[in-house]
Amino acid sequence: MSKDYEIIEHTYDVIVVGAGGAGLRATFGMAEKGLKTACLTKVFPTRSHTVAAQGGISAALGNMGEDSWQYHMYDTVKGSDWLGDQDAIEYMCREAIPAIIELEHYGVPFSRTEDGKIYQRPFGGMTVRYGEGTAQRTCAAADRTGHAILHTLYQQALKHDAEFFIEYIALDLIMEDGECKGVLAWKLDDGTLHLFRGHQTVIATGGYGRSYFSCTSAHTCTGDGGAMVLRAGLPLQDMEFVQFHPTGIYGAGCLITEGVRGEGGYLTNSKGERFMERYAPSAKDLASRDVVSRSMTIEINEGRGVGDDADHIHLHLEHLGPEVINERLPGIAESAEIFAGVDVSKEPIPVLPTVHYNMGGIPTNYKGEVVTSKDGDPDTVVPGLMAIGEAACVSVHGANRLGSNSLLDLVVFGRSAAIRAAELVKPETPHKPLAEGACDKAVARLDNMRNANGSRKASEIRLDMQKAMQTHAAVFRTGDSMQQGIEKIEAIQESFKDVAITDRSMVWNTDLVEALELENLLCQAAVTIKGALNREESRGGHAREDFPDRDDDKWMKHSIMWHDENNKVTIDYRPVHMYTLSDEAEVVPPKKRVY
Ligand code: FUM
Repeated sequence: MSKDYEIIEHTYDVIVVGAGGAGLRATFGMAEKGLKTACLTKVFPTRSHTVAAQGGISAALGNMGEDSWQYHMYDTVKGSDWLGDQDAIEYMCREAIPAIIELEHYGVPFSRTEDGKIYQRPFGGMTVRYGEGTAQRTCAAADRTGHAILHTLYQQALKHDAEFFIEYIALDLIMEDGECKGVLAWKLDDGTLHLFRGHQTVIATGGYGRSYFSCTSAHTCTGDGGAMVLRAGLPLQDMEFVQFHPTGIYGAGCLITEGVRGEGGYLTNSKGERFMERYAPSAKDLASRDVVSRSMTIEINEGRGVGDDADHIHLHLEHLGPEVINERLPGIAESAEIFAGVDVSKEPIPVLPTVHYNMGGIPTNYKGEVVTSKDGDPDTVVPGLMAIGEAACVSVHGANRLGSNSLLDLVVFGRSAAIRAAELVKPETPHKPLAEGACDKAVARLDNMRNANGSRKASEIRLDMQKAMQTHAAVFRTGDSMQQGIEKIEAIQESFKDVAITDRSMVWNTDLVEALELENLLCQAAVTIKGALNREESRGGHAREDFPDRDDDKWMKHSIMWHDENNKVTIDYRPVHMYTLSDEAEVVPPKKRVY
């Protein structure tokens, strides 16, 4: 098969796939350590989805009140509904402080306090003294923090000797005897195929939010890395946990940052009630996202939604005044104007819980190495393969991520992957030749898709999948509804065999790109909804009406899921790490959550 396509080979010490926050941090970290590093990305680096992150990045700097990384760790474990791995959470919260100072020195233009320190705002679930008070922990560059960080990281990457391969679509991992040997990619602008050999391949391809109809994710968020891992016969972890952000713009889905509520914004129903006071008397509008999204959904379901169809909620910031809005929230004022036609200084923004983040992903340890459960060892490292950022499941977010812990995850684990790669790879170690036909399977998949001659457009199949996921793997879930969703997703996967590709070229064939991305989304939609039906409890972002309680005896474990070529899903489990890395941190024992 490969003989029909010329494959251009490149050899590097390490390959990074993806150029968002995690990918860029890993890329220049590896280059800085003397590793010959290639970064492949399907979009120009500064167009990666990290650019859309708004509210900020958490770190217990204590610039605006007391704080400690132990408080941050406690909140993150509690926010995860005790599904997070506590060794990894300790690592992240502790490393947060030097990571932010490092970003500041790299040049991130953070907002400032009167005395020149990094400005920090309150965010949901972030507390001091183990839940007793509100923490101001989220470091912000107005409401464009992701934009500021992404551009700075790209500048750093350019400063170091990393090589970028831009508008290259990663097709598949090249695996031999259980070891990752590199990745096959398609160069969009001239149609050539490229084999990138690396002693470590780092997946930093982001989430798969586009498996849903309404999401805050960019159109590029098609989980390409997760799908490559499934096709390589490896599992994904905790895929049933999908985060709904409480404040996506009604109709458009664009993000309105939690920072609005951090600055004093609040939600109301059709009676003008600040209903979060009933659901979370202490944290109110700044309860964690799973809680706020569920409360909004209950208000709507019980007939107290706003608008003609009583199907959304109002977010108010009129009372904050032009100074706060212009200085701290200029981006969302613009988004609300463009996407909802609302002047935020005069009227509330119509909002609705919207898919925002995948807690699940490629299982890794805190060093970024991909792990799998094998021969009784749940932490078996997959040689040559690493994963970071939203594509990965470290797992620091467990069943629910706290706002502003995502940008942190990107930079902390991008850096830790660079450190680990430098320990594992000696610069310029030669690559052993690959077996004959090592790329055949990956090329055959591309070739079959390119010549697909069916009757259904990828866009039609994608819409079916997105609607099924939106309806059946929603904020609230029931066994019956998910079973219906599974039947739909299986039928949609079957119908994908009838996909029609009309453009047979290799140059900028967006028809083919969309079909490849759809195939990536479909397998992850399937494991998400099947994993959700399998988990018979409610935890974090996974709220089952038929199993309303968290069941630690039975379900305090990660699910890991395989998806084979016949669309069959297999589920197994890994234990949650209930231990810390040092004795400066204490294990947070599970208890009922109170808001
Ligand atoms: O609301 C926000 O600004 C989103 C932040 C996050 O998801 O971490």
